[in-house]
Amino acid sequence: MLILFKNIKELLQVRESHIAYVAGEEMKELPKIDNAYLLIEDTIIKDFGPMTQCPNPENTTVVDASGCVVLPTWVDSHTHLVYAGDRVQEFADRINGLSYEEIAERGGGILNSAKRLNETSEDEIYEQSKKRLEEIIKLGTGAVEIKSGYGLTTEGELKMLRVIKRLKENYDLPIKATFLGAHAFPAEYKTDHQAYIDLMLNEMLPEIAKENLADYIDAFLETGYFSVDETIQIMKAGKQYGLTPKIHVNQFTAINGIQACVENGALSVDHLEIVTDEDIAVLKESNTMPVALPSCSYFISIPYTPARRMIDSGLPLALATDYNPGTTPSGNMNFVVATACIKMKMTPEEAINAATLNAAYAMGIENETGTISRGKKANVMMTKPVTSFYQIPYEFGSVLIDKVMINGM
Ligand code: NIG
Ligand code: FE
Repeated sequence: MLILFKNIKELLQVRESHIAYVAGEEMKELPKIDNAYLLIEDTIIKDFGPMTQCPNPENTTVVDASGCVVLPTWVDSHTHLVYAGDRVQEFADRINGLSYEEIAERGGGILNSAKRLNETSEDEIYEQSKKRLEEIIKLGTGAVEIKSGYGLTTEGELKMLRVIKRLKENYDLPIKATFLGAHAFPAEYKTDHQAYIDLMLNEMLPEIAKENLADYIDAFLETGYFSVDETIQIMKAGKQYGLTPKIHVNQFTAINGIQACVENGALSVDHLEIVTDEDIAVLKESNTMPVALPSCSYFISIPYTPARRMIDSGLPLALATDYNPGTTPSGNMNFVVATACIKMKMTPEEAINAATLNAAYAMGIENETGTISRGKKANVMMTKPVTSFYQIPYEFGSVLIDKVMINGM
């Protein structure tokens, strides 16, 4: 089946398919074709170019994109969208003055969501999660990574990962599953961290590997959560099962965690609200993608990742939502891109590179999606009529995405 988009005002992110990511100065460039066509054949991008060279194949569905921007769908490389219930009470508590850390110390936070999850059936969690997934697809997300980490028991973690597996089976977009058993220490292990780590390593990981439930491994490397040494143990164990690390790090404090992640071959390091010059130097010598989560900074009022300092020193950067019930109850990549521009001073070009190409690299699918390239998946979207693509971040509270195509459908 052929679908031909004609008269596209701006066709964005047009690149050779072998480009893995862009860094530093390269991030300022978002290659585009004005007045373009885009031809989709079945599930892939077949061809594109200026309208002056537009083909006229038979039996083609034509989409008139006059006045509209067409670009690759967003890639959300960091979410926790499988969860049970919500944390609206903590939201109100924070407004009344408690901090995220204070709420966690009282048994709220991640442990609160873990309790809810363990009390909820797999079918019910699936139903709640698929609604979230369907909502973000409508908002333009065409690939998503989803973490476990609200089980914190063998049964709970497996339950979450099985829900992710069902989502993979039932939806057409690329989904990657990340095992995040190391999200927080359950209360009963507060004074015996090693016992919980042993449970993950000796019980959870073998079962996850047996059922082939995860693609990546994660840990919350943070003061009060998992130490550098504990995280190293977890990364090394994950690698024995073929799970590459993607790590939560530097959200509240910088404790040389990034260096440990890089040394252990992390594909990405995520959060980075607090970044030292040493962290930047370490990242510059690596293939690890730094990932910023501006909606989290927005929602819990913590610093934004210093994108300018990082990009200006030559680093790449990716953007993701962090969709989760505690720090980011939103999976809206349009808001992430806008907030990156408004609060982190990323240009629209940089933000869109960070939310497509670089984000695809951060979840290991840069060969499949993230750019308009011949042979890549037809995961593309079209805006409403706009003056230019700058309108996407400019109209920060609106969703200008009109049509989302996953695998050519
Ligand atoms: O990425 N920081 C660690 N994990 C999540 C939040 C988890 C929660 O509060 O439920 C995050 O922000
Ligand atoms: Fe997260």
